[in-house]
Amino acid sequence: MLENAHFIFIWVSLLFYLMRGGFVFANKSSKTITTLNALSSMALFGSGIAMVFLISNISFANGWVMTKLIGILLYVGLGIIALKPGLSKPTSLFLWLLGLAVFAYTFAVAKLFLEPII
Ligand code: HEM
Repeated sequence: MLENAHFIFIWVSLLFYLMRGGFVFANKSSKTITTLNALSSMALFGSGIAMVFLISNISFANGWVMTKLIGILLYVGLGIIALKPGLSKPTSLFLWLLGLAVFAYTFAVAKLFLEPII
């Protein structure tokens, strides 16, 4: 149940990250997309943390859990900094793409290392 929610939030969060970037790079702004982006990333984070507490054989001592924690903080943080007004377009684009790369890395870590470690 929680795991299914986590899987849905992965794609919803990514969708709103892409949409928000698309809006900003097209010189438009949407409070709704910004809010949905923040909420979906918080839901991804919350469902992940909740699983660490609720699934008995997973703990913060697992290396991949720490990688994912750092990954989501970087992904969210880079998304916020990149799309702040006042940065030049190339800087914004670079930081936004870096956030996307961190997301992809975190996803790959989950897919490649999660099952064998458990
Ligand atoms: C960018 C953020 C994240 C992405 C892309 C992501 C991706 C994934 C994926 C793809 C899986 C399924 C792996 C499989 O095939 O079994 C998964 C499961 C899981 N994730 Fe995340 N995740 C993210 C953030 C987090 C965070 C922040 C936590 C908590 C610290 C977390 C904890 C978990 C747990 C506990 C599981 C389930 C383990 C199991 O029962 O198999 N995730 N995640």
